[in-house]
Amino acid sequence: MKVIITENYEDMSRKASEIIIDLLKNKPKCVLGLATGTTPIGLYKNLIKAYNDGEVSFKEVTTANLDEYVGLQKDHDQSYDYFMHHNLFNYVDIKEENLNIPDGSKQDLQKECARYSEFLMANRQDLQVLGIGSNGHIGFNEPGTPFDSATHVVNLTESTIKDNSRLFNDISEVPTKAVTMGIGEIMKSKTVLILASGANKAQAVYDTVKKQPNENCPASVLQNHPDCILIADKEAAKLL
Ligand code: GLP
Repeated sequence: MKVIITENYEDMSRKASEIIIDLLKNKPKCVLGLATGTTPIGLYKNLIKAYNDGEVSFKEVTTANLDEYVGLQKDHDQSYDYFMHHNLFNYVDIKEENLNIPDGSKQDLQKECARYSEFLMANRQDLQVLGIGSNGHIGFNEPGTPFDSATHVVNLTESTIKDNSRLFNDISEVPTKAVTMGIGEIMKSKTVLILASGANKAQAVYDTVKKQPNENCPASVLQNHPDCILIADKEAAKLL
């Protein structure tokens, strides 16, 4: 794993966007794995700017998002579909038919998981963006998830529900389940770019980089990936 430590959030976002801008220039028809959360918002802002400056186009890009809450309709302002449209997709020339996010509003979630896995099998990500949960989760793969997992439904842990409750009016509104890309499917991406910002991620970053890969810290699996770049700001990297 290549570890890059930056001065602050802005530098982390800039470095991350440089890597993706390079990919878009070298391979305009790429499969881009995307993540939600507060962490990649700066990266997406930079990508929108690069698009507005005429540096890159998303016309031929296919996306593959990591996860989605179960039970939120797409137009709910905390759904990940809504997040992606409002933080990136609505502002670039990406085609709606090339966007892929697991659909957590489906009645038959097992069928939806199988459909998403099949899509990923046929569309290997060139690069997968990841954030990290304060408990080391990636996507919504919580501690204990097998490293070879495919897309599945998860029960969110108390700590994840609590972390994410800051974005809802009340903790009781946070969904307790989600559909997530599996760890095995994240690992199949040619490149993985994981971002971490802030002191509340410091322990998870330490466990990811320094501990033997183990299921208690899902992100530690990335040590086994042949091309993984972790970009952490100073606060997130303070235990390294
Ligand atoms: C959620 C998402 C993850 C994300 C994590 C951290 O649980 N499912 O993909 O990495 O939150 O979010 P943040 O970047 O807001 O700290």
